[in-house]
Amino acid sequence: MHYLKDRGFQHPLGSEITPQPIYEGRREWLRRLALGSAGLALAGWASREALAQVARPGKLAPLPGVRSAVAGGLTMEKLTAYGDVTSYNNFYEFGTDKSDPARHAGTLKPRPWTVAVEGEVRKPKVFDLDELLKLAPMEERVYRLRCVEGWSMVIPWVGYSLAELIRRVEPTGNAKYVEFVTLADRGQMPGLRSSVLDWPYVEGLRMDEAMHPLALLTFGLYGEVLPNQNGAPVRMVLPWKYGFKSGKSIVKIRFVEKEPRTAWVKTAAQEYGFYSNVNPNVDHPRWSQATERRIGEDGLFQKKRPTLMFNGYEAQVGQLYAGMDLKKHY
Ligand code: MTE
Repeated sequence: MHYLKDRGFQHPLGSEITPQPIYEGRREWLRRLALGSAGLALAGWASREALAQVARPGKLAPLPGVRSAVAGGLTMEKLTAYGDVTSYNNFYEFGTDKSDPARHAGTLKPRPWTVAVEGEVRKPKVFDLDELLKLAPMEERVYRLRCVEGWSMVIPWVGYSLAELIRRVEPTGNAKYVEFVTLADRGQMPGLRSSVLDWPYVEGLRMDEAMHPLALLTFGLYGEVLPNQNGAPVRMVLPWKYGFKSGKSIVKIRFVEKEPRTAWVKTAAQEYGFYSNVNPNVDHPRWSQATERRIGEDGLFQKKRPTLMFNGYEAQVGQLYAGMDLKKHY
């Protein structure tokens, strides 16, 4: 409760909290909507607002979003349970075990928070989190997230296209790439004592990738603000790339002329490429990328799922890579 106050968000009223089954019910409605079988009973229920407001586990402050109109922004697959999304994480600043971030990220202070947007832009600016939250309408997007380690989740994120922010700072003609820098504060992040990575965690995109409407500047999931372990208060989500491209707890966005040296490329360039688009035909030296395990479906006899080109977003993003050798630019 205190924690929520510190973040400056209002605590949700008990009456606003919707139990998980109702949320799941909403998915069923959406599925039926897609199939065209929901019929007239939808009147008064499926307004954009109603769809946006039933989505809360009641753990953190609400952050509802309208249903996304971006193509590919709504996957009709079963959602990964909130408990799995928030307890099986990669966030090396809090340790390298999957359970470390949920256990140790309580020390992260997501408020007050600023994001410096700088470099090759006409209007550099340090944005306060509150300004960012109001910059553009929040949308809910259900994206698949595929980790390079061979597992995936389906998560209802809340945010808006990064392009909204980029347009406002007016990049110059020299802006060819964007760099995302994660907070690196030893006081808040015990994992920084280890040298697994060269801190801060830096990721990057080519400018056209960053402008793609699917690239989501993300502030929440499941209708609430991001849990610390998922990258509070603001992170990227790039559904067509391996999960590590989606930097968490971002404090700086820099526009640059040269391809950024990302933390993973610095650590093991032969294993982690700058592009890192999900590609079932190009294996990681230590893991096949042909199939994946969906978190929550891990029964002994559960079949793995085939991994899809660009994680299933090929129709949306394929053009960005026309003519590129994706084996070379892995
Ligand atoms: N961002 C930072 N700053 N540090 C990290 O260790 N891990 C990445 C990515 N972003 C990571 C990060 C990896 S490997 C994955 S798979 C996703 O975050 C996991 O996001 P999730 O925990 O919200 O599922």
